[in-house]
Amino acid sequence: MADTDGIKEAKMFYTDIPQKTEGFFLKGSNSLDWGMKNRLARIFNPVSGRTVMLAIDHGYFQGPTTGLERVDINILPLVPYADTLMLTRGILRSVIPPSTSQSIVLRVSGGTSILKELSNEDIAVNIEESIRLNVCAMAVQVFIGGEHEKESIINMTRMVDIGTRYGIPTLAVTAVGKDMARDAQYFRLACRICAELGAHYIKTYYVDDDFETVTASCPVPIVMAGGKKIPELDALTMAYNAIQRGAAGVDMGRNIFQSEAPVAMIKAVRAVVHDNETPKKAFELYDTLKAEGNRY
Ligand code: R5P
Repeated sequence: MADTDGIKEAKMFYTDIPQKTEGFFLKGSNSLDWGMKNRLARIFNPVSGRTVMLAIDHGYFQGPTTGLERVDINILPLVPYADTLMLTRGILRSVIPPSTSQSIVLRVSGGTSILKELSNEDIAVNIEESIRLNVCAMAVQVFIGGEHEKESIINMTRMVDIGTRYGIPTLAVTAVGKDMARDAQYFRLACRICAELGAHYIKTYYVDDDFETVTASCPVPIVMAGGKKIPELDALTMAYNAIQRGAAGVDMGRNIFQSEAPVAMIKAVRAVVHDNETPKKAFELYDTLKAEGNRY
């Protein structure tokens, strides 16, 4: 029998206070479902609206990249300072502790190596795996202008369709082939196509000229790709410029884990992304932390 004795009469109705409906903090994401928004809010910090993603997925097409030979030794010490890890299921299962609280963006496209045509990718992870691994987004490479442009776009739209069914966002990664021009016109084209076809956010490269037109013409958040290793001050300057010109964060790999002092570098990147620190100040922070021994 239901225990109904002593139930107090409900009276806290606050009839004079309308229920608040909170808008969502991420560009172009307000119409998404609760699960999608919740996952995006684990990638992007709701306070700054930005993210520091640590990209360590390089091995899926180029094997043990410099700095990633031993993820357990070189990368685990960086994890606490990243908002999100971008990696493959192989490294996630074999090396990353399940107690990790950082959100996971899972690389789901693949099937090629540096020995062959890179744009010839397929979807290499099924949706059940992404659900099982509790990931916050799935990353798919899109090769606009590449030999297998259409297949790579369709890979992305397939993941958008399947991910939407389960509330998992899709990150489109705009890949530049060897011969493609890296300019704002190209990245406007690539990012806009990905967004129009449903990507929930987009990773793209920074360009000095007109980067703000790339972010302005893309209706969903853009995170800046790191690219090949450059001096720390230059990498911090690039991240600063990207953020100030409309990027909602960074997804950096080699410029962090190939740094002389990776922990110091990721902390400096965080200062630029989340605190709007200038490149000069962030570099001073890097230098100080490095001198204090913040290598690992
Ligand atoms: C390729 O496009 C992949 O996403 C990379 O494996 C990785 O994310 C690139 O990171 P970074 O260029 O910053 O080393």
